[in-house]
Amino acid sequence: MKILGIESSCDETAAAVVEDGRTILSNIIASQVEEHRIYGGVVPEIASRRHAEAIVGVVDEALKEAQCTLDDIDAIAVTYAPGLIGALLVGVNFAKGLALATGKPLVPVHHLRSHIASNYISDKELKPPFLCLVVSGGHSHIVEVKDYTDMRVVGRTRDDAAGEAFDKAARAMGIPYPGGVELDKIAEGGDENAYALPHPKVDGSPYDFSFSGLKTAVINLIHNKEQKGEEYSVPDVCASYRKAVVDSLTQNFLKAAEDLGYTTLVTAGGVSANSLLRRELERQCQGKYRLYMPEKYLCGDNGAMVGAQGYYEYLAGNIADQSLNAVATLPISETRFTKQ
Ligand code: KG4
Ligand code: ZN
Repeated sequence: MKILGIESSCDETAAAVVEDGRTILSNIIASQVEEHRIYGGVVPEIASRRHAEAIVGVVDEALKEAQCTLDDIDAIAVTYAPGLIGALLVGVNFAKGLALATGKPLVPVHHLRSHIASNYISDKELKPPFLCLVVSGGHSHIVEVKDYTDMRVVGRTRDDAAGEAFDKAARAMGIPYPGGVELDKIAEGGDENAYALPHPKVDGSPYDFSFSGLKTAVINLIHNKEQKGEEYSVPDVCASYRKAVVDSLTQNFLKAAEDLGYTTLVTAGGVSANSLLRRELERQCQGKYRLYMPEKYLCGDNGAMVGAQGYYEYLAGNIADQSLNAVATLPISETRFTKQ
């Protein structure tokens, strides 16, 4: 079964053709990162406009690269929540138009579910149940994936998401948006024990995260040094900060795995491309847990993951009619659309 997956929840206009939820036939991404960089973050109005300009070409390219036409596509899957509302609306309305014109089923996909599904492409044998650490620019969740479309959040961030925490700390050091990627690279050359930073815990909620205190601590450290005219080592600050964020993510994730009895652990989302997070999880899971992580090119937003999750949503009968709307915030466990 061939699914066309469309993604426009943030600053990537993406489309892909995916076979049976597991095999990529094409995967096209038009990134707007360069344009948002001068503003230090994503400007929603600009994002919506660029999606509207790019979407026809991106979908066309995805079909061409997969060597198919719309006739060969069995269903159209689209990210409908959560994300920037104006950005989501471009993908949703485009997919609705395609579904109406072709008579193909319209499959709404939750953005975080699709991040999780990127693992079904990277590891063909992976099947639920498993425990997943979903870490992106907007979310930090520990999710029980009981089945392909049955999920429960057991831990979440109380404030900033991990990606946001990386981006904001990077910005304070003058590293351009999205700083998380660059901070990771710079940290490779630094000493992670150079600066003592807090390792935040949420009282009474061992699986929840809190990154805003840590972010403030590193920003204060940088500003203090700058005000006093003292030198500080950017690689050392990056390494110490990355270590603190990764320690928090791995500790809570592994505690949840142990308490809830999961032996299969999975990561998903942009931050799961982080080199230290990958190394630490590999090290700590060895001999104890089966660990799955998406290949790096599938960690960030893409259409293939929408096509992959779309396949399982389709099998579960999650098909929408033309009343489908975009939703800015929506729990991963919920579906909010009228079924066909
Ligand atoms: O999943 P994603 O592409 O978009 C959202 O759904 O938010 O995640 C983007 C986030 C950004 O905050 C970016 O800085 C972060 O993922 N990120 C990283 C790395 N690569 C991307 N953070 C830390 N280390 C990385 N290597
Ligand atoms: Zn994402």
